[in-house]
Amino acid sequence: MLVSAKEMLTKAKAGKYAVGQFNINNLEWTKAILLTAQECNSPVILGVSEGAGKYMCGYKTIVGMVNGMIDSLGITVPVALHLDHGSYEGAKACIEAGFSSIMFDGSHFPIDENIEKTKELVAICNEKGLSIEAEVGAIGGEEDGVVGQGECADPNECKQIADLGVTMLAAGIGNIHGKYPENWAGLSFETLDAIQQLTGDMPLVLHGGTGIPEDMIKKAISLGVAKINVNTECQLAFAAATRKYVEAGKDLEGKGFDPRKLLAPGTEAIKATVKEKMELFGSVNKA
Ligand code: 13P
Repeated sequence: MLVSAKEMLTKAKAGKYAVGQFNINNLEWTKAILLTAQECNSPVILGVSEGAGKYMCGYKTIVGMVNGMIDSLGITVPVALHLDHGSYEGAKACIEAGFSSIMFDGSHFPIDENIEKTKELVAICNEKGLSIEAEVGAIGGEEDGVVGQGECADPNECKQIADLGVTMLAAGIGNIHGKYPENWAGLSFETLDAIQQLTGDMPLVLHGGTGIPEDMIKKAISLGVAKINVNTECQLAFAAATRKYVEAGKDLEGKGFDPRKLLAPGTEAIKATVKEKMELFGSVNKA
């Protein structure tokens, strides 16, 4: 059964570890992440961007697929199905379709509009027992064609949004989606510290988990980050393993072209990446 992310994140914040959000794109991705979470005895959040939602034939299809897998794979660790960077309309559609958690990304709106829309969605999520993530300060890089600049959020605005009763808060601290450029300035721990001082127990979310050095991940967790999003790293691992298989001509040997064989190395690479992250984030055996 899908659960809200509230309990797992409250425990993570108190226990000074982070729960990974791994984005899904298809059946193989989802199966790999669920099996790894179970093997690691770790809570997990499956992230779905609006683009991935369309690709996977809509939110209802995804809810059916994930619920079916939890049942047929015997998954007993807590699993939240979460909309990633949702629009206001997308958030409502996911609530309707049976997601257990949503993100409303109002970071590109003026703060008053972000507050107004977040407040409305908080009320709906509270009534239905769903968790909700809000964002302040756009995360840099490209996400489904939307390019942000990697801002640092205003800690006072973070407090305003946290006070609306959201479950978790994503705040820009110089993080970027996708690969980090050579000249990346690193995370702003000064900003993160100021945000945590003002928002207290609120679980903070670090987007752009791909490519952040391990020491920075650990420091971010020590300063209140309780959820870390990883997407690109699983995609890179999947692509590299698939390329290796094809370049070795394995797709031409025997039944190597069978999709169950062709996609297997990539799927194994996702499992390895997810396991590595769960170990780094400290969520192993925290289910
Ligand atoms: P990366 O693709 O950089 O890992 O970021 C994922 C993310 O933050 C999804 O919201």
